[in-house]
Amino acid sequence: MKMPQFIQLHHDSAEAIRHELIQGLSANLQAGGAEVSPKFLYDALGSRLFEAITELPEYYPTRTEAAIFQAQAVAMAQHIPRGATLIDLGAGNCNKAASLFEVLAPVRYVAVDISVDFLRAALGSLQRQYPAIEMLGIGLDFSRQLTLPPEAGAPNAEPRVLFYPGSSIGNFTPDQALEFLRQVRTACGTAAGSGLLIGVDLVKDPLELQAAYDDALGVTAAFNRNLISNVNRLVGSDMHLADWAHLALFNPVDSRIEMHLVAQRDLRVNWPEGSRAFVQGERLHTENSYKWTVTGFTHLLRAAGFAEPVVWTDAPVPEQGRFAVLWAGA
Ligand code: AVJ
Repeated sequence: MKMPQFIQLHHDSAEAIRHELIQGLSANLQAGGAEVSPKFLYDALGSRLFEAITELPEYYPTRTEAAIFQAQAVAMAQHIPRGATLIDLGAGNCNKAASLFEVLAPVRYVAVDISVDFLRAALGSLQRQYPAIEMLGIGLDFSRQLTLPPEAGAPNAEPRVLFYPGSSIGNFTPDQALEFLRQVRTACGTAAGSGLLIGVDLVKDPLELQAAYDDALGVTAAFNRNLISNVNRLVGSDMHLADWAHLALFNPVDSRIEMHLVAQRDLRVNWPEGSRAFVQGERLHTENSYKWTVTGFTHLLRAAGFAEPVVWTDAPVPEQGRFAVLWAGA
């Protein structure tokens, strides 16, 4: 029986992480204000809070994308090659990719996530379920640099299906998204039939967007505010949960939801070798979630070198859908 293989590629040192966080906490208004990368939302509790978000009535993206995959599985199979290497970017519990195994029949499954430790349990049980598929777990922060090790297979052998669901692309600015998609295209290799299968959240009524990121139960608020505990742990800072409120707003100029933490009083954040003052109402920016049109995202894929994509949405008219799944040949 095959066993999954695991590889951890470069891990940020605790010092590099502290440096990045302190830099962001210290940024003054001229530098755009204080900010912390959304990757710090996902400590153990944050990851569970995100899973809870995906079940909220207001948070439509996860269930809408799942419904598109269900409804369009046969149509997708007509465009996406079988017997490929399926490369899952941000695999997590590997459930989304596993639900494609029947339709895509991959010969190899490569699960990529920031830490290889997140992948061990999920890949282990998947391997028992699908003993014939070669499985590989890779720990890699692919948002910086997407380079696959030789264990992922020869780039000119089987076709590669790169899989990037969930509208995770929304965390990138359009410039970063373009650069990232160029790297994805390179990672598609040179075998015929390769391409990218990606889920993208679409522009819609700002009130619907706002509700999805500021739910009535307060789970998204808890998810955002939990970043404070994670930062305190990583930096050794003394932020108090009670001093910070959740804010989610739609910025129509940049077509993105922004999440912020808003200081509820004049306060100072201290850490071992420094501090930063916040006045009441001052914000700490924690996430951007860009919303695309089908046309806009198609242009982006074309600019990155992909062929004209095939588009599936949850509406008969693509531009009226809430969410889109696109297949773009390399
Ligand atoms: C995981 C980045 C796709 O932007 O919708 C959910 C994260 N933030 N609620 C998103 C998130 C607040 C999510 N992504």
